[in-house]
Amino acid sequence: MSGLREKYGLSADMPCHVAIIMDGNGRWAKRRGLPRAAGHRAGMEALRALIESSSQFGVAALTLYAFSTENWKRPQSEVSALFELLVEYFAREIDELHANGVRIRVIGDVLPLPERSREALALAETKTDKNSGLMLNLAINYGSRAELVRAMRSIAADVEGGALCPGDIDDDLLAGRLYTAGLPELDLVIRTAGEQRLSNFLLYQAAYAELIFTDTYFPDFGEEEYAKCIAEYQRRNRRYGGL
Ligand code: IPE
Ligand code: IPE
Ligand code: MG
Repeated sequence: MSGLREKYGLSADMPCHVAIIMDGNGRWAKRRGLPRAAGHRAGMEALRALIESSSQFGVAALTLYAFSTENWKRPQSEVSALFELLVEYFAREIDELHANGVRIRVIGDVLPLPERSREALALAETKTDKNSGLMLNLAINYGSRAELVRAMRSIAADVEGGALCPGDIDDDLLAGRLYTAGLPELDLVIRTAGEQRLSNFLLYQAAYAELIFTDTYFPDFGEEEYAKCIAEYQRRNRRYGGL
């Protein structure tokens, strides 16, 4: 388990929950004169190593931003290609993920997705539900604002129905209504491909997460670069407002 940590000289102080904004697939492809879809495919290939190294580093939860609520603005052909890749990914990888004890969950609103993609995701979730290894969360049609609106509505309905009083609403109650309910506190957000923004990802959860931005395009983001991000995380002094 700790073999990979030793290889990169990392301490045992690992981030429990890592989230990755997988950006730069399009630019990766453009630089090679390839269509954007080829970049998304290359990104998918990079996922395998990332998931495997997360388990080996001893990260408990990995949350990946795969499709945002704003990504529908892209050409329909790119959107379809992304969802097709998702189906292909699970058809190919689900058995190995399951064998490795990975528990897959989707965060976001899957209803607008094509049926084939929804089925593939549901199958991946059901099949791996009892696994106790890496908690792998795929953010698909996910946006923090939509997530918060959904949580507010659910709380408001309970208040209206008399199950809750406004005074019962606190941090824990709200956190329990988010897609990330039950996951460990977010420790580290990594964004590839140079942009320094969150793009509507885990805004509430990232309150005290460390943020690391790397210029590497996602398809080129491998184990070594991941280890460098964790090393940088381990050098940070997390004060949480204290001293
Ligand atoms: C992948 O990178 C992120 C997804 C929305 C799937 P992009 O497709 O945003 O790549 P760039 O930013 O255009 O390079
Ligand atoms: C964020 O990347 C969404 C995902 C990685 C899925 P975008 O490429 O959509 O973000 P912006 O448009 O640069 O903010
Ligand atoms: Mg992008």
